[in-house]
Amino acid sequence: MFDKIMKLSGAEGRSMELKLHKGTVGPEVVDISSLYREMGVFTYDPGFVSTASCQSAITYIDGDKGELWYRGYPIEQLAERASFLDVAYLLLYGDLPQQSQLAEFERIIRYHTMINETLKNFFNGFHYDAHPMAVMVGVVGSLSAFYHDSLDIHDPRHREVSAHRMIAKMPTIAAASYKHNVGEPFIYPRNDLDYCANFMNMMFATPCEEYAPDPLAVKAVNLLFILHADHEQNASTSTVRLAGSSQANPFACIASGIASLWGPAHGGANEAVLEMLQEIGDASNIDKYIARAKDKDDPFRLMGFGHRVYKNHDPRATIIRKVCHEVLDNMDAKDSPLLELALRLEEVAMQDEYFIERKLYPNVDFYSGIIYRALGIPNSMFTVMFAIARTVGWVAHWMEMMDDPQQRIGRPRQVYTGAGKREYVPLGQR
Ligand code: ACO
Repeated sequence: MFDKIMKLSGAEGRSMELKLHKGTVGPEVVDISSLYREMGVFTYDPGFVSTASCQSAITYIDGDKGELWYRGYPIEQLAERASFLDVAYLLLYGDLPQQSQLAEFERIIRYHTMINETLKNFFNGFHYDAHPMAVMVGVVGSLSAFYHDSLDIHDPRHREVSAHRMIAKMPTIAAASYKHNVGEPFIYPRNDLDYCANFMNMMFATPCEEYAPDPLAVKAVNLLFILHADHEQNASTSTVRLAGSSQANPFACIASGIASLWGPAHGGANEAVLEMLQEIGDASNIDKYIARAKDKDDPFRLMGFGHRVYKNHDPRATIIRKVCHEVLDNMDAKDSPLLELALRLEEVAMQDEYFIERKLYPNVDFYSGIIYRALGIPNSMFTVMFAIARTVGWVAHWMEMMDDPQQRIGRPRQVYTGAGKREYVPLGQR
């Protein structure tokens, strides 16, 4: 694993040897774990631009080539052929399931979709107009008060049961957060429907009227869930790992991931993109908004553009762009003018020196909101949809971390820039 050594020379003639770590693919990584012990210095890397926080075998991204693999499988192949639970199994267990394994996994997830009836009381504590992501953070966090039978995080079987519960209950809680918002009764999960169709049913059925999910809508949700399922050490996944590194309750760790995902620089971008497109309103305003995005004195950014890792294109955006057309062409979508506007905005930005120089391409969330909107899902639920899918990634990373013999509590250091040591001044003398 460590096949090369790099020599580091520091102040006062001190030097040390640093091991170079090579993963399966990707750049070499300098192991600095003994740097402070041997040289008495820390590294400084705001935003972790040059820092790997762990070893992981789940997802690989080549940002320069625009490649994304789950457990070695290119995202394009999974998007084209797999079901979401097929991908969930792959991310959790490392290999694609055999037919019988998938059938058993689907059965287990199906039989964990109900939530404890008392959990409903937590929803009632929220005002009807609470943002569904706020409800998700609270209600998923409160799952940590249940399931005492399987909370020994040092027992692999307990961890697995918790993982199944989280993946199974997330759509039920997500749909309930929407129903609470619109003042409709919660709809119970149905065991005759698959994962995505069941979610759509819990969103749109009412006790008065059955809902027949449109197969194209279910296909689109399945695809979007696959594309959002994992993305290595992004902000929310790193948050889950950091929370879990203290051996915290797994449901509380996932709630911390949901909180991190909500920000507009991360999963909240899909909602922000739609709001931005609605604000731009018409293609004639595009130049004005592009100018604002380039103005350093203006906080406005082109939402859905740019990515920390992808400096070529986001492969998920390429897949989604195609599906966006399919959905809008075949469904009674009221919002295709928004897609037209989005396409025009992309075209203008992609010819602009500012965006070319900085390699700012549309990311996955530039298009996901337009599809969700066409399926009748309201803007405030877009990031919730992302959270349902990403739960699989969070859980897979949490399981991997808990199994890692090198796992330690996450505890970054800092460059202290505060006051030097000074004497306390009594109140009357200040
Ligand atoms: N609009 C305008 N300018 C931008 C944008 C944008 N969307 N994104 C980056 N830039 C500019 C920055 O101002 C900076 O310019 P400078 O070099 O002149 O200072 C340069 O491009 C580099 O950007 P950083 O902010 O340093 O890049 P970072 O990797 O820290 O941020 C991020 C990445 C947060 C995704 C950023 O591009 C952004 O805010 N995009 C919009 C929000 C968004 O779409 N988020 C979703 C990300 S994908 C996901 O989480 C699923």
